[in-house]
Amino acid sequence: MESLNELIEIAKSASKKAYAPYSKFPVGCVVVTNTGSRYSGCNIENISFGLTICAERAAVFKAISEEGPEMKIVQVVLFTPTDVPITPCGACRQVLKEFGDDFEISCICETDQVITHSINELLPKSPEIKL
Ligand code: THU
Repeated sequence: MESLNELIEIAKSASKKAYAPYSKFPVGCVVVTNTGSRYSGCNIENISFGLTICAERAAVFKAISEEGPEMKIVQVVLFTPTDVPITPCGACRQVLKEFGDDFEISCICETDQVITHSINELLPKSPEIKL
């Protein structure tokens, strides 16, 4: 496990880059890959609300863009500007799961509480299709 405190700082800093004029809910995320690299992301909203991308998917897509389709996630840290930690939305769980076998997601918030779940806890019984 990477130094959690370092990753928490990266996720918090990423939230400061968020484009969230509609929700005013800036989120930050960092994805660590099996190469040891760290990719941060923030939520990016749009006047057409459905086009908004969450911080988690922004971070994952950045990682794939840099490392290519074999990119494997080994750890995720998520920061939300809340009093209690918030877990990723269903869409982000599905996208995260696509790029890792099992890894932990630590969710942190403004009160510095941390909850950690594995992706398989957050998205149990997900489809595995061998093509
Ligand atoms: N959001 C994230 O980026 N990640 C989450 O885990 C929760 C929600 C964003 C989407 C939207 O820009 C704002 O937070 C409010 O839902």
